[in-house]
Amino acid sequence: MTKRLQHLNADNIKRLLTTSVIGKEVIYLKEIDSTNTYGLKLLQGDIVPDGTVIIANYQTSGKGRHGKYWETPKGKGLLFTVLFTDLHTIKIPQLLAFSGALSVAESILQLFPSHKPSIRWPNDILIRGKKVGGVLVETKKQSDSPGRLSAALGIGVNVNQSRNDFSPEIAEQAASLFMFTGKRVLRLELLVSILDNLERIYLFLEKGKDTGFWRRLKKLSSTIGKGLKVHTSGHSVIEGTAVDIEPDGALVVRLDNGELRPFYSGEVEEVEWVE
Ligand code: BTN
Repeated sequence: MTKRLQHLNADNIKRLLTTSVIGKEVIYLKEIDSTNTYGLKLLQGDIVPDGTVIIANYQTSGKGRHGKYWETPKGKGLLFTVLFTDLHTIKIPQLLAFSGALSVAESILQLFPSHKPSIRWPNDILIRGKKVGGVLVETKKQSDSPGRLSAALGIGVNVNQSRNDFSPEIAEQAASLFMFTGKRVLRLELLVSILDNLERIYLFLEKGKDTGFWRRLKKLSSTIGKGLKVHTSGHSVIEGTAVDIEPDGALVVRLDNGELRPFYSGEVEEVEWVE
């Protein structure tokens, strides 16, 4: 492929995509505050096509989960949001976030099989215990039909950063694909692979078909079987061992007194890390 055809831009993305819903409309932005914020604004109007992809080369205010920032130097990461204009059930937002994480992890597995990714519940993508990607889903109720829910599925992948591109606060916990592979990774190729995987997963889930979704997710989970601390949104820390992920997305943790407790949100700190 010539250099021109390898560039991350709307034309090249559309040319390579084989999807039917995701990426029918692609919006490429050189710079934006956040692709999720931009997407949520689009969802406020009523003419955005389902599956619209917004991708940025740089975000000035990238959002992470739990109100954190998602910082990536210009041109070094994949920063994109996929818009879903009509989710049918309230359960889907969690499933959408899992689908995002699973599609990124499976793409890494397909493109770089010797760098096995894992998913830390609920949806951090890790390689060898370091975070290489994250997912942030934000939903919006439609004002004209309150039962209808739309969503912005935001995905960030650390692609070509070097170690000193990460701020000191996160340098110990984060890494990029480049840091593992030692080669510059083509963002275009990775994006197209993720969007292809995402569409396949989403269309099956939308039809109520599982086709191995939970099995694949649990197989890639770095959390199940681990001793962990869950930092809950109520600021308490609960210790136990993760035993399962339920079909509603809850992480089931066996507490030290034997009680099985489901967690629906919170930040997980894995106490032991085994490959
Ligand atoms: C996390 O904290 O793990 C979630 C990170 C999600 C970052 C992506 S980058 C593209 C999209 N736009 C944002 O502002 N955030 C998400």
